Amino acid sequence: MRDKLLKLKKEIIDQLEVLKQKTANSNNLELLRTLRVKYMGRKGELTQFLRQLKDLSQEAKQEIGKLANDIKVEVGEAFTQVQEEFLDDESGVNTDVSLPGEVSKIGHLHPLTLVQRELEELFKSLGFHVLEGPELESDYYNFEALNISKDHPARDMQDTFYVNVPGQKNSEQNLVMRTHTSPVQIRAMQKYGAPLRAIVPGRVFRNEAIDASHEHTFYQLEGLMIGENISIANLVAVMKEILKGIFKEDVNVRVRPGFFPFVEPGIELDIECRLCGGKGCPVCKQSGWLELLPAGMVHPKVLEAGGIDSKKYSGFAFGLGLTRLVMMKYNIGDIRLFNSGDLRFLEQF
Ligand code: DAH
Repeated sequence: MRDKLLKLKKEIIDQLEVLKQKTANSNNLELLRTLRVKYMGRKGELTQFLRQLKDLSQEAKQEIGKLANDIKVEVGEAFTQVQEEFLDDESGVNTDVSLPGEVSKIGHLHPLTLVQRELEELFKSLGFHVLEGPELESDYYNFEALNISKDHPARDMQDTFYVNVPGQKNSEQNLVMRTHTSPVQIRAMQKYGAPLRAIVPGRVFRNEAIDASHEHTFYQLEGLMIGENISIANLVAVMKEILKGIFKEDVNVRVRPGFFPFVEPGIELDIECRLCGGKGCPVCKQSGWLELLPAGMVHPKVLEAGGIDSKKYSGFAFGLGLTRLVMMKYNIGDIRLFNSGDLRFLEQF
């Protein structure tokens, strides 16, 4: 009896040793489980053996009983140890290939980029080029060439980030963080001449006191179309086409006079309030209209600064507030959210 018991123990431990040499995987864990059932399950060999003890004499029971119990504990611990080794093993071990994988998070485009790209595609379909210009701009391109005189309020220190260039005395060669995308109008005319169709999406900077509707950094989308006999009618037609692309239906617009030094005449283009359909609501302040973009016919002085013959050519320009349009489209109440990096905001798009 004693020998049989010791032999059984050896058999179990040997088999466990063999299993231990293998790399752990779900298959080997399964083998281990089968082995445990084979010997230690309800009908297992060791269990059966222990059941026979009750038939032994009192004396034999005492001796073998203790041994049997020790072996049961020892073998049980050996099983547990191998199992833990399998589970701890880092060499690929716990890999259960049937488990669903870990999904890594992929980012997505910022709402501003989404709308910018949509507009780029629409304008491209109408033959417009998409251009860029420098964010650090000369005083000349940002103001002077656009017919913004020295005493214009846009030049006020409070609106513009001036950048000091060491040793630079001549103020016209000073640098500014561009306050609008309009300077690229001049750069584009100088580079490509007329006729010309271009848009310029980009970042602009103002020295603003920041609140829910003012930021030091925001986005505009400049537009410029130059050719023979271009008029405000062309501007209205282009804008209606673009708005139809964005809102997927015809949008009513209206034109009011406005003033900007680089256009003559200057206009403000409004769209019928999308929320109330023009009836009047809190969003459009009961007027039925929302201000969309300032625009106008390019001032002859600006055409000349761009090297274009203002007698032969005319053109329209506009300065769409891209950030503002995105706020309108998605009903975003606070401009500070755009640069906040707050995922609770960004993940909604
Ligand atoms: N650059 C102007 C601004 O940022 C906006 C603007 C107005 C641009 C009229 C234009 C325009 O091209 O024609 O305030």
